[in-house]
Amino acid sequence: MARIEIIYFSGYGHTVKQAEAVLEGASDLADARLWAIPEDGVVSDELWEAADAADAIVFGSPTYMGNAAWQFKRFADDSSKRWFTAAWADKFAGGFTTSASLVGDKGETINYFKTLAGQHGMLWVPLAQMPANSLESTASDANRLGGSGGALAVAPADASPEQGASAGDMTSAKAYGRRIAEFAAKAA
Ligand SMILES: Cc1cc2nc3c(=O)[nH]c(=O)nc-3n(C[C@H](O)[C@H](O)[C@H](O)COP(=O)(O)O)c2cc1C
Repeated sequence: MARIEIIYFSGYGHTVKQAEAVLEGASDLADARLWAIPEDGVVSDELWEAADAADAIVFGSPTYMGNAAWQFKRFADDSSKRWFTAAWADKFAGGFTTSASLVGDKGETINYFKTLAGQHGMLWVPLAQMPANSLESTASDANRLGGSGGALAVAPADASPEQGASAGDMTSAKAYGRRIAEFAAKAA
């Protein structure tokens, strides 16, 4: 089976829910695992070894101040060791982010993930879900936020992780995880 490593940071537990939805979708077709980046941003040797052996790596972070959280950036900077040897070249890549505001500059976070993947020579998997933007659309519809790059979710600022993102955002994340797994399975 294809191997997918989902590597994410979550400060307050909202992005975890999105990561779990990506995992659920990816697990339909692949051997997928979640890796939480710790508070100090320093990840384990086990995580690096898993990423090196993966067919796809999915990046996740809340949007903090218009981009990925610094803990994710610490992981990304530390991945420069892999860049030197092109260790992640030709693996599939994807990304997801949760923010509090409907827009909230989430696109910057996704674009950062795309750039990181590009630097590593990875193949970015876009969301490929039609936006739910009609009069009848509700928060229960997949891709109600109308993204194209990766999976987006909104957890209102005063919501607990359990109350967090809408059912549609979770559906969107799940379908995205499955889509990444489809590509990874073809290549494995
Ligand atoms: C330091 C910080 C910066 C934030 N910056 C943004 C932002 O730029 N845009 C936004 O919409 N929400 C912003 N938020 C809200 C978070 O994105 C939102 O609460 C998210 O659900 C947190 O995810 P987490 O629980 O996984 O940490 C910020 C929150 C924090 C703590």
